[in-house]
Amino acid sequence: MAGKLEGKVAVVTGGNSGMGLATAKLFAKEGAHVYITGRRKAELEAAVKEIGRNVTAVQGDVAKLSDIDRLYALVKEKHGRVDVVFANAGVGELVPIADVTEAHFDKLFGINVKGLLFTVQKALPLMAGGASIILNGSIAGYTGSPAFSVYSATKAAVRSFARTWTADLKERKIRVNTLSPGPIDTPIFETVVTEKDQVEQLKAGFAAQVPLGRMGRPEEIATVALFLASDDSSFVTGIDLSVDGGMAQV
Ligand SMILES: NC(=O)c1ccc[n+]([C@@H]2O[C@H](COP(=O)([O-])OP(=O)(O)OC[C@H]3O[C@@H](n4cnc5c(N)ncnc54)[C@H](OP(=O)(O)O)[C@@H]3O)[C@@H](O)[C@H]2O)c1
Repeated sequence: MAGKLEGKVAVVTGGNSGMGLATAKLFAKEGAHVYITGRRKAELEAAVKEIGRNVTAVQGDVAKLSDIDRLYALVKEKHGRVDVVFANAGVGELVPIADVTEAHFDKLFGINVKGLLFTVQKALPLMAGGASIILNGSIAGYTGSPAFSVYSATKAAVRSFARTWTADLKERKIRVNTLSPGPIDTPIFETVVTEKDQVEQLKAGFAAQVPLGRMGRPEEIATVALFLASDDSSFVTGIDLSVDGGMAQV
């Protein structure tokens, strides 16, 4: 049976870990050729092995416009077009408002907002009608967790982009949607805090707030990203789809 993305070309930023990796794996299984990006070379190589086929890794930093240009130059040369962009690369750090520094602000907005914007903008010349752009937001974009102010603001910006870009791209029939995860069990938590027991504490704290009583798995984001990427969602654009076990819904 043909896969849901048979013959499509997909770009997944941050495809060497967590939700990006799970999604790239599923997209490739469903017939797409997937370009994955990330800064860490060893993790990219491991991801290519894990995905197994239909995958090209491009090392790069989404906060550097020249790296994004290099990515799309390769995609153009090898495939000539992009059908799906999952702008997923992102970072989080817990910093209370009193301790926010310029470096923290610039890092988070540089990757989560500027990087995401130019990941999408620079794909546009390669996209045609029917293409799908998926932005990885977060329920943090509309909730208020302590010490999450800058991160949450980056994700509110992401959700806003999906609205305006839906309007910007309507003539071209390119769909833009936000996928907003709740707490998902990925390596991101190891970078958010420093001590191992803090990681477990943080995860347990999040899980306790989820009506379904647990964190989500990266594969549970991948299946929703597949829905938004494929023609199954052909009349869906501009939305914010929460995948959060109900955490921000009740
Ligand atoms: N886990 C959660 O609970 C949760 C909830 C809501 C939203 N999110 C969002 O989901 C997305 C994926 O996170 P995850 O949980 O799957 O975490 P993860 O496993 O840490 O993955 C993050 C990915 O982003 C890449 N990345 C980070 N900075 C980058 C940069 N400057 N340039 C290129 N790639 C970069 C990382 O690769 P390199 O480090 O190699 O660059 C990695 O592949 C993020 O946008 C995050 O904010 C996560």
